[in-house]
Amino acid sequence: MTTDSTLVAFIIGAGSHIGAAVAAKLHELGYKVALGSRHAAESETKQEYFHVQVDASRRESIEAAFGTVTKALGPVNVVVYNAASVNIPPSPTHILSLSSEAYYESAALGLGVFTAAKQAVENFKNDIHRDHPKAFIATGNILPFTQFSPSPYHTLGVQKALATRLIATAAQSYKEDDIKFYFATLVSHKGGIPEPGEFEKSAQTHAEVYWDLINKEASNWDHRFTLDGKPYLHV
Ligand SMILES: NC(=O)c1ccc[n+]([C@@H]2O[C@H](COP(=O)([O-])OP(=O)(O)OC[C@H]3O[C@@H](n4cnc5c(N)ncnc54)[C@H](OP(=O)(O)O)[C@@H]3O)[C@@H](O)[C@H]2O)c1
Repeated sequence: MTTDSTLVAFIIGAGSHIGAAVAAKLHELGYKVALGSRHAAESETKQEYFHVQVDASRRESIEAAFGTVTKALGPVNVVVYNAASVNIPPSPTHILSLSSEAYYESAALGLGVFTAAKQAVENFKNDIHRDHPKAFIATGNILPFTQFSPSPYHTLGVQKALATRLIATAAQSYKEDDIKFYFATLVSHKGGIPEPGEFEKSAQTHAEVYWDLINKEASNWDHRFTLDGKPYLHV
């Protein structure tokens, strides 16, 4: 870790795309950054990033990972929840062909948002962050904005729906504490699913947009944006 900063971010579900770009941006601008994923090789605090193992579908694992990060880097003031999974039913058009175990497992990744947000708020309230920005951002998609999710993507929709329910409420609850909650979603220029290839090109855009959300005044928890980083305004 090359900085003595007390600004600390924890990215849960940090891979080579959004996680890597957001981490680079935060690191460049003075943050110590912890990268969490299931297969992370735990690292020394001396390295550029602090890697920590976390399975966001397991409550105890999230709690333990926050403990590890806080001990190594100090309390966090930014959390990005980027983990997601898709559990396609054996008969893709019949959602109930999915096993109950697989459904519960998938939903657990949505429930993980609650545990992560709870840990985040505890960290944010540390006095060291009194004058720092405090933000919890979940990477979104448009699935939770309609009741219908195509059967193959239903489990992903469940995760995102759980995330939106919590974030909408938490954004309101913690406004007075200057704590921001966002469900941040890349959309096409028409407001739908990104066009083919757009998501793959969007890592840097996510990094710029998340940086702005962390630092600007609180706005609507449901933040949709296009590949050029501009907000997509919707009713
Ligand atoms: N706007 C849109 O339409 C749209 C389109 C596509 C994706 N997305 C969203 O973008 C996010 C993923 O983006 P990305 O491209 O950055 O993915 P990515 O590069 O594949 O990184 C995601 C990382 O999450 C980790 N992960 C998966 N399950 C996990 C778990 N249970 N606990 C902890 N870590 C876990 C994986 O590492 P391990 O395997 O080591 O755990 C993986 O490296 C998701 O939230 C997804 O829903 C949005």
